[in-house]
Amino acid sequence: MEQNEKINPPKHFSERAAIKSMQDFEALYEAAAYDPDKFWAEQAGAIHWFAKWNKVCDWSNPPFAKWFVGAKTNVAYNCLDRHLTTWRKNKAAIIWEGENFEQRILTYQELHRKVCKFANALKQLGLKSGDRSIIYMPMTPEAAIAMLACARLGIIHSVVFGGFSAEALKTRINDLEAAAVITADAGLRRGKEVLLKQNVDDALANNECPSVKNVIVHKRIGSLTKMQSGRDHWWDDLTTGISEVCPAEELDSEHPLYVLYTSGTTGKPKGVVHSTGGYLTQVVATMKWVFDLKDEDIYWCTADIGWVTGHSYVVYGPLAAGATTLLYEGAPDWPKPDRFWRIIEKYRVNIFYTSPTAIRSFIRQGDDWPNNRDLSSLRLLGSVGEPINPTAWHWYNRVIGKERCPIVDTWWQTETGSIMISPVPGATPAKPGSATRPLPGVMAEVVDDKGEPVKVGKGFLVLSKPWPSMLRTIYNNPERFKSGYWSRYPGKYFTGDAATIDEDGYIWCLGRVDDVLNVAGHRLSTMEVESSLVRHKTVAEAAVVGAPHELKGEAIHCFVTLKQEFHGSDALTEELRQWVATEIGALAKPERIYYVAALPKTRSGKIMRRLLREIVTTKSVSGDTSTLEDYSVILKLSQQGKEEEEILGEKK
Ligand code: WTA
Repeated sequence: MEQNEKINPPKHFSERAAIKSMQDFEALYEAAAYDPDKFWAEQAGAIHWFAKWNKVCDWSNPPFAKWFVGAKTNVAYNCLDRHLTTWRKNKAAIIWEGENFEQRILTYQELHRKVCKFANALKQLGLKSGDRSIIYMPMTPEAAIAMLACARLGIIHSVVFGGFSAEALKTRINDLEAAAVITADAGLRRGKEVLLKQNVDDALANNECPSVKNVIVHKRIGSLTKMQSGRDHWWDDLTTGISEVCPAEELDSEHPLYVLYTSGTTGKPKGVVHSTGGYLTQVVATMKWVFDLKDEDIYWCTADIGWVTGHSYVVYGPLAAGATTLLYEGAPDWPKPDRFWRIIEKYRVNIFYTSPTAIRSFIRQGDDWPNNRDLSSLRLLGSVGEPINPTAWHWYNRVIGKERCPIVDTWWQTETGSIMISPVPGATPAKPGSATRPLPGVMAEVVDDKGEPVKVGKGFLVLSKPWPSMLRTIYNNPERFKSGYWSRYPGKYFTGDAATIDEDGYIWCLGRVDDVLNVAGHRLSTMEVESSLVRHKTVAEAAVVGAPHELKGEAIHCFVTLKQEFHGSDALTEELRQWVATEIGALAKPERIYYVAALPKTRSGKIMRRLLREIVTTKSVSGDTSTLEDYSVILKLSQQGKEEEEILGEKK
């Protein structure tokens, strides 16, 4: 790692930035560290409150934090109503581009009207504050409208990524006991229809989700859709002729805004619960610090609303900050590899925030695609979701940013709610590959096994003080919240990431140390994939590990033992890969499947995943299964002759 390479923010950028220098940044950081309550109270001043708090942070019952205790606010009010009394009422709130080049632009006023109408429709169906709803939609303005309408009424939403299967949808509906599902007939992906409503029907079949009383369907495509009378309603039917007046509920600061399911170390995804007041306060603060937002900016974060980035930095953050946020429905390479650059050219995008996986795939497609488009509007670039390798960083800087745009490499998690570690673009010198330093109010530390801070070197990344946008609990599972995050280092939040800290206090995230995979920036647990595999009739046991992948960061490699009567074959490999894709979603489709006679286990019967990971990491496994011969040798060696636990050879 070339840890000493430092790139200063471009002078022209710093001059216009809200935080112009490291002195300004340090002053802010110091103020936050010195008196966090005062600092966060000041930040909270940037949003609207119906009633003020009587305490900023209540940490009397750790790890259950409360922020802005006793205060009342509403996230949708902050994203909409507040702007209507200003010149922003006619500003574009959402610019939407469909995959098929359709275009819609909604001003704050129009967005407000649509949200109020849809909220009234939800009310008419009997939904109320505290109820849970699922949003399973393509990237359309209606997805944001659905989120905001729920937020307006205090209905706790859970957005399920449109690429997830009916099975995954069902698990989430049932964990939440959701009363309603908001969906669309279909979405578009690389010109093909993604049949969302069909997946909802499959999830609800045989009364397997008894809590769901209503399904609301937005007609995106007009594809053939079966509607079940009494249960299913067309969005347009519900909102036609309905009142445009719908006051925002004055919600407690701690009222849950949403639950977002993410992968942990067990097979069952966990429902991360986010709050209202603290969440919005920190999302808005980071929006300003990290993106140095200006009123005239066109801001584009390419994340899907199914992920936390889509919640905090496509919908809630930009709208609460009064920005113009761009939503694009489809694939980056459709119909040609320059679609993103075309969109930047067309709308004169100023701030562009995407993932390292996307950047790596652009590199592969060649520089001509971006070079043939006018990218001169860009002034700031961002990266999120996985470590960005220095080569990709430099390409992004040179080919997309033309060495004019600072790059913010932002580290955070579904659980943290907002960006925790990132350069402040007008101040922090970048080091390619490092997310640099924690933002004001964030106490990030790299600690050793015992929890002692590492001054310079490698360790585990922890957050040692509560922060306003932190997750409040795991839905229906406070025990998992405690044990999953707060037990390894008592009093400190364990991120699950390994990291290095250098002599400048810069943090370099190295990736997960638990059984969580990061495939193309998407989180998946090894157990989730294993559980899916063993549900297949041929599979006896499965062990899943992540192997480095040039494009996706990590790819899924599965070691499988078959039941006696079955044998490995190419056909079975395809069947198993498809099986997992159908059970979880295409993003979980295994890269490789290895048939083995036995899995390496410890004496206590635990699968030695670390060993398997080592094997797929150190051995170049691409393409060639014959190297599996070597695996068995390594396994033999590592198990020091424990014959009964050896891998005895492969069937393929
Ligand atoms: C990884 C996405 C390095 C990390 C917002 C974390 C990163 C996990 C970065 C969370 C980054 C995220 N550099 N690694 N800039 N950003 N990660 O919950 O391992 O989908 O724990 O949240 O992604 O993924 P999640």
